Amino acid sequence: MVDTQNMEMDIEKILEELTLEEKIKMIHGCGLFKTEGVKRLNIPSLKMSDGPMGVRAEFKNDEWTPAGNSEDAVSYCPSNTAIASTWNRELAGKAGSILGEEARGRGKDVILGPGINIKRTPLCGRNFEYYSEDPYLVSELVVPCIEGIQQNDVAACVKHFAVNGQETERLWVNVELSERALREIYLPGFKAAIKKAKSKTIMGAYNLFRGIHCCESSELLGDILRKEWNYDGVIISDWGAVHDTVAVAKSPLDIEMSITYNFDEYCMANPLIDKIKDGSVDIKYVDEKVRNILRLMMRLNMIEYKDGRIEKCKDRKAGSYNTPEHRQDILEVARQAVVLLKNNDHVLPFNKKDTDKVLVIGENAIKAHANGGGSAEIKALYEITPFLGIVKLLGGNTEVTFAKGYESSVYDEGNNDVNWQADSLKSNEENVTDTCNDKSEESCKARELREEAVRLAKEYDKVIFVGGLNHDYDIEGRDKKDIRLPYEQDVLIKELVKANENTVVCIMAGSAVDMSEWQNEAKTIVYYPYNGMEGGTALAQVLFGEVNPSGKLAETFPYESSRILKNDEEAYPGRKVTDEEKQRMNAILTQEYKEGIFVGYRYYEKYNIPVAFPFGHGLSYTTFKYSDISIQEDEKNILVELKVKNTGDFDGYETVEIYVGERNISEDNPVKELKGFEKVWLKKGEEKTVHIDIAKDMLIHYNEQNRRWELKNTEYIIYAGSSSKDIRQSKVITL
Ligand code: BGC
Repeated sequence: MVDTQNMEMDIEKILEELTLEEKIKMIHGCGLFKTEGVKRLNIPSLKMSDGPMGVRAEFKNDEWTPAGNSEDAVSYCPSNTAIASTWNRELAGKAGSILGEEARGRGKDVILGPGINIKRTPLCGRNFEYYSEDPYLVSELVVPCIEGIQQNDVAACVKHFAVNGQETERLWVNVELSERALREIYLPGFKAAIKKAKSKTIMGAYNLFRGIHCCESSELLGDILRKEWNYDGVIISDWGAVHDTVAVAKSPLDIEMSITYNFDEYCMANPLIDKIKDGSVDIKYVDEKVRNILRLMMRLNMIEYKDGRIEKCKDRKAGSYNTPEHRQDILEVARQAVVLLKNNDHVLPFNKKDTDKVLVIGENAIKAHANGGGSAEIKALYEITPFLGIVKLLGGNTEVTFAKGYESSVYDEGNNDVNWQADSLKSNEENVTDTCNDKSEESCKARELREEAVRLAKEYDKVIFVGGLNHDYDIEGRDKKDIRLPYEQDVLIKELVKANENTVVCIMAGSAVDMSEWQNEAKTIVYYPYNGMEGGTALAQVLFGEVNPSGKLAETFPYESSRILKNDEEAYPGRKVTDEEKQRMNAILTQEYKEGIFVGYRYYEKYNIPVAFPFGHGLSYTTFKYSDISIQEDEKNILVELKVKNTGDFDGYETVEIYVGERNISEDNPVKELKGFEKVWLKKGEEKTVHIDIAKDMLIHYNEQNRRWELKNTEYIIYAGSSSKDIRQSKVITL
């Protein structure tokens, strides 16, 4: 246990010994992923690495070129979208502890994740790195994840703080939103990460918030983070998110990182020394940053202060990577992340024993995804693709045939630039990815592939299509133009389900895609997010009934025609700033979160807009019956209790989702909101009583007028459901 008082005294002593130049070296990048230490005093450099899906490969210190090492291959973890689809706090914790242990094993001090921005629109290119559209689900998963990371003497760096909901002009988009939307939707995840999980570092976002760049915002970093949340950890900038020396020096940001190699020219490098020397910035601001960094180093057991000297702490955990235990946990996350969206006529599960031959179609069946997506890319030790997963599950007595059906390279798009990060700060007017469906000229190659797949589909009883997106679409730095499937997959899937009505359609994507062209015709649809190194094993196990699916959507799948924030430029991606605005803010676009708190299901429910698959939806091979809901209250909590029985033929998990809404819904409140969930394992025929406590505090809403949280004294409905739409039990209470 670190003695806080002594630690603070030690920090003061160290501070006295440091020169201005030495302090400055500690507060900015001197390599793409590290700060400089102070050798003279034994202060080490702080080493960081991306990211949310595993520890990124090494880069050269001063060039965005892979170092070419062989020892930086690591475990590839399921994406945050996958983790969220498990609705399993324990698995979020395990994923975190893998990240932390591997980061430490690779010698890192800070792992740049988890990414927890709210999925405001499915168009955002980085959605696969984020959990959900719902702030409660985000908060519940981020806490165990960060605790898991930090058990390993490694700091989490929860990102990107805040309202970083799009990639279009990500550095130059100003976000305006109501205080209520900020407090109720966009901050809760970060607050949980800081207050509950005690994230040791946090990353400031690229965008502007109310006219000021997030990394220089005294409102965001000062008033909210430091003062309201009492944060004494380290605030790190996103790479290149700092723009003004004096502003950032005076702001609570501690470390400036960037993507350029002119480390001495960073705002918080030589330019800051000049500003201190000419009196425009007081050294006290720098001291505060150094204090926070030294505190972080002590908390991470990097250093200790003994007999007036800094020493390397001998007790620091060493970490480990690529362990069999990590792979096992990664497989379990992947299994629970697979979401069965539709399964008419019980097409699934396939019976392995009566399977002589299977046809697998689609590029995603054979494509590895680890090495893509932007800074979340991973040099995976290995990645089991769905095709490999299926073949290895079935063994040598089954004939498994593969037909591509479509091929991304035919369409000549995407981002194959290995050095993309070096250019990633440039404004890009065209930074959306077109799904290319409107190409009128269909290439011969595409037609040939499709015709072959459709012809074969008629000859097989078991046909599995594996398609969806890849990291040309789910990628950092660009949004999607729409949510349709690329590479003319809609045409292919329509023809496949016509040729063989039992075709199982598996779609991989980092957030909602449009399935409206074939959703009604396809009997069986499976969704799985970027699912880590054992993703193919997990998918095969679900398809062949070795695992009963239990994933649920952590976001709504809308119909393309319904609102995905596409039709109002002011709301998304933002309108061009006026000349007057240009005078006062460093932005190209400005946008207003006009929907306020009505994000995701809160929006679709309020305006009664039908969706393709609702938030929280996911089927099982078995069925569950809910009964006997009862509600007790104590001073602080609403205690919900109900029975859930497995009434089908498979053992399995069910996630009971608890929503709360006013009985007479007021104009400015959502119909209902997720306030609790519990994932329970039930054997065939088994019944369990599920208890879920909801703190009454969680029903408060932010009153914009008097800037206060208020609990409305009224009647509420407590809903227990298998999804936000499939409500099985409810009860009215009066508070
Ligand atoms: C991304 C961050 C990432 C950083 C370092 C930035 O472009 O936005 O999420 O951690 O690069 O690679």
